[in-house]
Amino acid sequence: MSLAATLQELKDSALVRIAQATTLDELEAIRVEAVGRKGVLANAGKEMAKVPKEERAVMGQLLNAVKASIESALDAKTTSFAAAALDARLASEWVDLTLPAPGVKPGALHPVTQVQRYLEEVFTSMGFAVLSGPEVETEFHNFDALNIPPTHPARDMQDTFWLEGGNLLRTHTSPVQVRGMKRLGAPLRMIAPGRVFRNEEVDPSHEHTFYQLEGMMVDREVSIAHMLYFMKTLLKEIFQRDVTVRLRPGYFPFVEPGFELDIQCSICGGAGCAVCKQTGWVELLPCGLVHPNVLRAGGIDPRDWNGFAFGLGLTRLAMMRYGIDDIRLLQSGDLRFLNQFR
Ligand code: PHE
Repeated sequence: MSLAATLQELKDSALVRIAQATTLDELEAIRVEAVGRKGVLANAGKEMAKVPKEERAVMGQLLNAVKASIESALDAKTTSFAAAALDARLASEWVDLTLPAPGVKPGALHPVTQVQRYLEEVFTSMGFAVLSGPEVETEFHNFDALNIPPTHPARDMQDTFWLEGGNLLRTHTSPVQVRGMKRLGAPLRMIAPGRVFRNEEVDPSHEHTFYQLEGMMVDREVSIAHMLYFMKTLLKEIFQRDVTVRLRPGYFPFVEPGFELDIQCSICGGAGCAVCKQTGWVELLPCGLVHPNVLRAGGIDPRDWNGFAFGLGLTRLAMMRYGIDDIRLLQSGDLRFLNQFR
């Protein structure tokens, strides 16, 4: 076969393969094979020596023309691949800028906070101040000032998280009674919602960290009837219905007389479940008339003033209110749980 025919054939077969190529890798392979330094065209060039002198110029031109047309076919195909890739990207990354923006997803208050805020409103509407006290308390405010003698079992290492240096994590919100009396004096109406800590075994109804809402009213000739009025108002506001309650004697060193106000368990309706320890009742509202020693510790003369106090289990109340049967869920941080209370 003449060199001219060989070149023509090389050109034709290369152009066909270029036309059929579907990837950049294939094109690169064709380029190396056809027009590379050791490719078929370079080999054909070596034949040039055998070509008669007078034809060499024409053959040289033909060789260059073949090479040029293969290279330009390669370039064109490469460009078309790039264009196709761009088209595909544009199609997949296309954004409709006329769509409304999704906006910031709003957060929500924790169910315990919701109940707390609601009760703050109820009590401020009845003239109570909302106070807060420190979570790290002194032994004096948490115990002594509340008429809890040094030998009382509540001071036991089992119940209290003691800190180095004699302070402790408050085991109840009652120390704010003393701080409130010292700060505001008598007459006094205050509540103090807040976090409290006990060195307790955790189970469906006990946490080492939970919330209480302390309440105190100091005035002249305050009676148990006054106390019951406020307790009933509180429960009615919270449950938006009449709740079945029972009053039992209860012992707390800082009240005399002291009571336990129980409500019928709203999880099981009184039949008995894990939350109410199968009793049908939930201890919710310990209360009583303020012990004279506590008034004294708060700088108030018990001969002129008296009062009532209560310590509402805020966490427990939120569980009752929303029908939550495991206290541990509240501090789980699990958004699947929390999103139910938005
Ligand atoms: N501080 C008590 C507790 O945590 C509750 C309480 C408060 C009882 C006020 C009576 C009066 O158990």
